[in-house]
Amino acid sequence: MPDLCTYNYAIIRVVPRVEREEFVNVGAIVSCPARGFLEVAIALDEQRLTTLDATLDLASLRAHLAAFSVICAGGKQAGPIGRLSQRERFYWLSAPRSTIIQISPVHTGLCQDPAAALQHLLHTRVRPSRAESPEARMERVLQEGNVEKDDHTVRLLAISGSLRAVSSNTALLRAAAVLAPKGVEVHVCTDLGDLPHFNPDLEGAEPPVVKDFSARVGAADGIIFSTPEYAHGVPGVLKNALDWLVGGFDFINKPVAIFNASPRSTYALASLTEIITIMSGRIVPEASITVGLREKASDEAGIVAHEELAGMIRAALAAFARAIAQYKAEIAT
Ligand SMILES: Cc1cc2nc3c(=O)[nH]c(=O)nc-3n(C[C@H](O)[C@H](O)[C@H](O)COP(=O)(O)O)c2cc1C
Repeated sequence: MPDLCTYNYAIIRVVPRVEREEFVNVGAIVSCPARGFLEVAIALDEQRLTTLDATLDLASLRAHLAAFSVICAGGKQAGPIGRLSQRERFYWLSAPRSTIIQISPVHTGLCQDPAAALQHLLHTRVRPSRAESPEARMERVLQEGNVEKDDHTVRLLAISGSLRAVSSNTALLRAAAVLAPKGVEVHVCTDLGDLPHFNPDLEGAEPPVVKDFSARVGAADGIIFSTPEYAHGVPGVLKNALDWLVGGFDFINKPVAIFNASPRSTYALASLTEIITIMSGRIVPEASITVGLREKASDEAGIVAHEELAGMIRAALAAFARAIAQYKAEIAT
């Protein structure tokens, strides 16, 4: 077996509209001095970029990105920079810049084959949204989980912001699982407390528990949130879970319903709405409800038995399923 060697890598991002701070990963650079390796791999999702900015100059962008390969190869073609060592050229390429092409912080890894590491980065950090559509991903997760395939079932992941054993928010989501209309499944996520604290240094090498959580988010047709308000904000455990999703593709364009268990929790609702919006989730207003839970029921059985609450939840889930079906039809055309 070949020896392991350390390598450095950086992700190349395009920020089409700097003021909006949205970026698309378009490539990766890997430097492995021990193997004399310095290469870049680019995969430009032009459609996605022009959706973010219709005026983007793609020809100029392609030309600038092509220069990365030339500099990696070194030599006369790369001009004066081509005379620098591989290591220096990597630092030149990975230096911060202020144009629409920006570079992630430099990370370090261990590999046997830097070319394979580069392809892995391309596959996991740059191409996931392209190479694997949400539908393909759902298919794969279902197959891997040996779950019987049913294309018409709407699968929702329900995330509670409370870890309390007798949480009213979790009870609301569990009641939704019971009340779900035919063709809709609600899976209540119960392991938010197992996620480690978010650390950007671990992006690309997330612990398995994080990968599993992200995969469940990615595979779901929609997400329902229900959260308490803590000190006029979103509980840290929920924010932490959302932070793990920011750098990936699992949450982008994900249909979202917010169930608010208390009309008093206006700050948490506003904050969660803002966070989901900036993370490119698609909040479905007609599927989002505020219920005065405390006055009406205290647990899952009580919610299910409460005619008014049960009716609101059923209606919200039906509206959510309709919005998801419409969205799927839109992206299929
Ligand atoms: C640390 C802490 C801070 C809280 N801060 C607020 C608050 O700012 N506003 C509010 O309306 N309720 C606040 N509450 C009350 C909770 O939001 C409320 O009890 C909620 O129902 C708990 O949800 P759960 O039953 O799902 O755990 C706070 C509760 C705790 C424990």
